Amino acid sequence: MCGIVGYLGNRPALPVLLEGLKRLEYRGYDSAGVAIRTATGFQVCREVGKVAALEAKLGRDVAQYAGSEGIAHTRWATHGVPAERNAHPQCDDHSGIAVVHNGIIENYQTLKKALEQKGHVFTSETDTEVLAMLIGELYEDDLETAVQAALREVTGAYAIVVMCESEPGVLVAARKGSPLMVGLGHEEFIIASDPSAIVAHTQQAFALEDFTVCRLSKEGYRTSNLHNVPVTPKVMQLEMDLEQIELGDFPHFMLKEIFEQPEALRNTLRGRIDTDRGEVILGGLELVGRDLVRAHRVVLTGQGTAWHAALVIEYMLEELARIPCEVQYASEFRYRNPIVEDETVIVAISQSGETADTLAALEEAKMRGATTLGIVNAVGSSIARLTDAGVYLRVGPEIGVASTKAFIGQVAVGALMSIYAGRRRNLSIEASRRLLTELNGIPDLIAKVVAQSASIHDLVAKYVSQENWLFLGRGYNYPVALEGALKLKEISYIHAEGMPAAEMKHGPIALIHDGMPCVFVAPLGSQHDKVIGNIQEVRARGGRVIVVASEGDEEIVPHADEIIRVPACSEIFSPLVTTVALQLVAYHAAVLRGHDVDKPRNLAKSVTVE
Ligand code: AGP
Repeated sequence: MCGIVGYLGNRPALPVLLEGLKRLEYRGYDSAGVAIRTATGFQVCREVGKVAALEAKLGRDVAQYAGSEGIAHTRWATHGVPAERNAHPQCDDHSGIAVVHNGIIENYQTLKKALEQKGHVFTSETDTEVLAMLIGELYEDDLETAVQAALREVTGAYAIVVMCESEPGVLVAARKGSPLMVGLGHEEFIIASDPSAIVAHTQQAFALEDFTVCRLSKEGYRTSNLHNVPVTPKVMQLEMDLEQIELGDFPHFMLKEIFEQPEALRNTLRGRIDTDRGEVILGGLELVGRDLVRAHRVVLTGQGTAWHAALVIEYMLEELARIPCEVQYASEFRYRNPIVEDETVIVAISQSGETADTLAALEEAKMRGATTLGIVNAVGSSIARLTDAGVYLRVGPEIGVASTKAFIGQVAVGALMSIYAGRRRNLSIEASRRLLTELNGIPDLIAKVVAQSASIHDLVAKYVSQENWLFLGRGYNYPVALEGALKLKEISYIHAEGMPAAEMKHGPIALIHDGMPCVFVAPLGSQHDKVIGNIQEVRARGGRVIVVASEGDEEIVPHADEIIRVPACSEIFSPLVTTVALQLVAYHAAVLRGHDVDKPRNLAKSVTVE
């Protein structure tokens, strides 16, 4: 999932574009490039590696890149290995077209064949070069028209910004599936994949809708569909500020975001809890609250960490509201010819709000008439705009590729939705008051866990050379075990597997050997004795037992080689504290192994292609 930026204005474009790329680098970072319109035509520079490598290459002759309009790109490879020839902008030198693209042109092979028969010669393996050549092939004297015509021929997902040598002062942007925003500055436009590259320049912006083309020039902007019918964009005030996307005194965004969780959770809960009335206030659910409360079936869907949050919420909704739930990977739901009846409610969970798998599942559910709700962090994102209603996490921008505070926000919103529905079904006011009062206190408990960062570092240092780890939990903490394993895999590249603790003896126990770290997520709760039984099965086979245990739990001590203490709380809220301990385990393992925590290899923050 690439990051793209465009600039048209009166300032030197290069510094604006490079700063924008740095802000978007978490979206993809295997190569980068820029094209600037200078007095002598386009100057293009591309380099393999992070934006810093591009800057170094530019540094040698930056004077050549003087101009006040340009486009830039940071890449997450889909077609063609990370190499200078496959980096963007991709160009059609014959017609002077340059394109930066985020997404996948699915029918590029067919188009490429047709263009080769017309004599076009390709120098890269990318689908994007095909788009540049196609626009060039269709270009007569108007870039906007050529882009509209080309996009009528392509299938797949795209966010693009295009420049043409023979049309100075004009940029054309377009979107279908992949996110793209236009920032409206003072006599300038900043086009970007997300607000983080825009907020330094303006708070005014609009998101392009699917199949929309936007022509930008010094005279202003014009938006239309692919058949040149004008469309009116909805200009919004961006709710993000620079401080939120700055590293501050932290070495990594992931650690900053782990430490932000107490305050982030307070923001998630603020104004949504009325402990006196035992009531949850979710303005976003006003229109469709009844559908949730009367649902015969709720399908929770998402990918990665969001899918793990869905598993926790499934337990909560069933326990507190007695609504039958199921959790489905969005990528599976989309293609399995899903059963969607009238009283089926689909809840799409996503931090970025742009994950293509989840978007596609949502479109499928909507087409089959389901009520769709969103649990989303990114304000104004595609999933937020597509769902019938939803709840924002309000945890602030999440920059670190490994999701942390968004998971806590997703689980907390799930708890609020479960109490909201429960109060309208079977949950008593006393029970609701008790739950809401405790939920209000969870941020302070999380603060106690993050305060153990240093001791967790020392614990991890003893095991960080081990290449295989197991994560085990029961009930509410089974999804936490999955999340802990995912975090460790994502950033430390240690192979880790999470599973229900009871499942281990049905096969995975064969993996256990002397010294193998087995992390048990075992706070006090209804299955504590059972977990201790599973711990003994591991110890009997030489595994090293690391336990995330509740303060005051002495029974677990003789069974553990290492203990990470977390404040005791009700089982239903325990994922909000136990997960934080595992985030820190993964973070310190990655740092100790010398990896780039915020930009782990092969990953991207928002996966905008299926
Ligand atoms: C989690 O750390 C990963 N970044 C990834 O699994 C992520 O959760 C998944 O891609 C879903 O992203 P979303 O929440 O933005 O939809």
